[in-house]
Amino acid sequence: MTARVKIDTIKNHRAVVTRHGGPDVLQMIEEELPEPQAGEVRVKVLAAGVSAYDLMFRSSGSLPGTPSVPFTLGTDIVGLVDKLGEGVTAIEPGQMVAGATFCFDGLGGYTETICLPDSEVVPVPLGVDPAQAVCLVANYLTAHMAMHETAGVQTGERILVHGAAGGVGTALLELGKLAGLEMYGTASGPKHDLVSALGATPIDYRTEDVVARIHTLTGDGVDVVFDPIGGARQLWRSRQALRKGGRLVWFGVAATKRVGLRVIPITMLTVGLLKLLRNGKRLLTIPDLGADNAWYRATLAELLNMLAAGKINPVVSKRVPLAESASAHELLERGEYAGRVVLVTDSYTESL
Ligand SMILES: NC(=O)c1ccc[n+]([C@@H]2O[C@H](COP(=O)([O-])OP(=O)(O)OC[C@H]3O[C@@H](n4cnc5c(N)ncnc54)[C@H](OP(=O)(O)O)[C@@H]3O)[C@@H](O)[C@H]2O)c1
Repeated sequence: MTARVKIDTIKNHRAVVTRHGGPDVLQMIEEELPEPQAGEVRVKVLAAGVSAYDLMFRSSGSLPGTPSVPFTLGTDIVGLVDKLGEGVTAIEPGQMVAGATFCFDGLGGYTETICLPDSEVVPVPLGVDPAQAVCLVANYLTAHMAMHETAGVQTGERILVHGAAGGVGTALLELGKLAGLEMYGTASGPKHDLVSALGATPIDYRTEDVVARIHTLTGDGVDVVFDPIGGARQLWRSRQALRKGGRLVWFGVAATKRVGLRVIPITMLTVGLLKLLRNGKRLLTIPDLGADNAWYRATLAELLNMLAAGKINPVVSKRVPLAESASAHELLERGEYAGRVVLVTDSYTESL
């Protein structure tokens, strides 16, 4: 575990991947505060999300898009704007914002201070917990995209969510309940209470035949399967759980955790083949969340308002100090979490 670094207000501290390997390659560095360029805002980070993707980029340099070491992980942040670059007028210093660092360019969210284009940040309403708000940026946007834009669910439809206790899975269940769906979710046994509490019938993918159980419970299968797991057998089985006319939405490769990165090309090939099959079932993939900035901003603002109004309640498994990001990764590797693990800075702790 990395030693805790004392916060110095005129310096920045961020966690960097020093070389590819285990959680211990995450080390804190101290540097000058970054200066916002024209069109950017500088944000004092309160909370930063940790995701399964981060573990892949940390452990291997072979994934497309991996920056050269040293680099900083993290796909999303919530923080307070503390300086504006030239030409920024729509945001005031002191405003709390949420933002994506998807195209992080080696400078992701595991940091005390970050500069982001003003187009990437969305104001956060007063009174929300930054650790919950940060869950909306990658996980809830992914869930919204998969459920509403890609699958186009209708009230009363039946869905099966794989990885239902995970970050995106819990988001799918929250949004699915609001959409009036009949929900089933796969998870390991200890996480079934959470899946039930979120409104779905839990199925233990480790001990049960998921396809048989779905057909027993529903008769002819579900309308939509959301699959963030990947792998040839998994995707084929997801397809078998569909009723005729159903949609399989694939959006991830959580199977890498169990079988390694080789599952990625196998998954891509399987997705391509299943898209070609024509027998009344469709395989759909989701677009890059950053591709349509207007959608990103409008949907994130809508989700933040839902959070402020108490309509959604993102599951934060643990808030881990930024300087202990290695222990957050250990937690993810052991699978001892549900929903999202969030890194918090000293500014977050002081704001409570
Ligand atoms: N395309 C995008 O924009 C996008 C965005 C975010 C995430 N993703 C993808 O989505 C995946 C999931 O993300 P996440 O943040 O939700 O990850 P997560 O929080 O780590 O959740 C993954 C869940 O999958 C479960 N799981 C593992 N193997 C399983 C299997 N064979 N069947 C059913 N459940 C299984 C685990 O549950 P147990 O602990 O109960 O085993 C875990 O709770 C990531 O791997 C990533 O590839 C894609």
